[in-house]
Amino acid sequence: MSITETFLAGFHRDHAGLTAQVFDALPWQDSGGRPWPSSYDWLVDACRDTALPPGPGLDLACGDGLLLARLRADAAPTARPWMGVDLSPDELRAARQRLGAHVPLLRARAQALPLGDAHLAAVVSHLALMLMDDADAVVTELARVLQPGGLLAGVVGARAEPSPAFAVYLELLSQQPRSAHWQALRFGDRRWHDEAGLQSLLAPPFEALTCTRLMREERMSPESLWQWCLGMYDLHLLPPEALPGLRAEFLRRCQPLTDAEGTVLHRQVLLAFQARRR
Ligand SMILES: C[S@@+](CC[C@H](N)C(=O)[O-])C[C@H]1O[C@@H](n2cnc3c(N)ncnc32)[C@H](O)[C@@H]1O
Repeated sequence: MSITETFLAGFHRDHAGLTAQVFDALPWQDSGGRPWPSSYDWLVDACRDTALPPGPGLDLACGDGLLLARLRADAAPTARPWMGVDLSPDELRAARQRLGAHVPLLRARAQALPLGDAHLAAVVSHLALMLMDDADAVVTELARVLQPGGLLAGVVGARAEPSPAFAVYLELLSQQPRSAHWQALRFGDRRWHDEAGLQSLLAPPFEALTCTRLMREERMSPESLWQWCLGMYDLHLLPPEALPGLRAEFLRRCQPLTDAEGTVLHRQVLLAFQARRR
């Protein structure tokens, strides 16, 4: 495993299931104004396409199995058997607990899937593709395991303007001294984060790319925003003793940004896409 994958495995050992806890019941609105109860539900809906070939589906980087549970519970006529892959044994253990004994769960890297050629009719992935090393190898592997006409559907972080309070957080983070370990880390590939990048990444093995942005805005206390940031990877790259001072500075710098209720704006944007294997 690379340095980045070793960091991810360590984070998910200590925080298995955290992504699902944060995103499980978080509602979004897509670019067309359609509300979604969660970003996982957008992926479940993408799999209901009756034009898809029959055959098994894969949740790539399945984490603790929340999306697999939703996919398996979906009663649409297009229901199919689902399996999960993740590199973290701790997330897979949590997924096993959630899903029971009968769902295939494989410990593997997306760059080397232990599946035969054209084995799958659908691959979904929630908040993971944009973290992975060697995006081109991931796409090649996905193209290998999908049948012609098969679905690739993903939710990834989108390139978006940060809210003023989040810009404060990003600025403070950028000023932190970077350990050699942190400098060596590279999270994924920027091409996942917008439609033009996706087009260049996925073509030629994939076609019929469609994208929508999932957006949400809420007001929260600066302390709640700090807690939200603690659920992401970046703060875990800092020495723990740096966190109290950084938190205090963040809260101080957010003060002028608060409204009469003491809240700041928090804006989140995800990119949801689907494409078909040629
Ligand atoms: C942010 S979590 C998302 C988990 C889950 N999809 C969810 O949304 O609840 C990212 C997941 O990607 C997995 N992961 C990262 N790189 C991977 C790779 N190259 N191959 C397989 N899994 C990977 C991590 O172990 C982690 O479980």
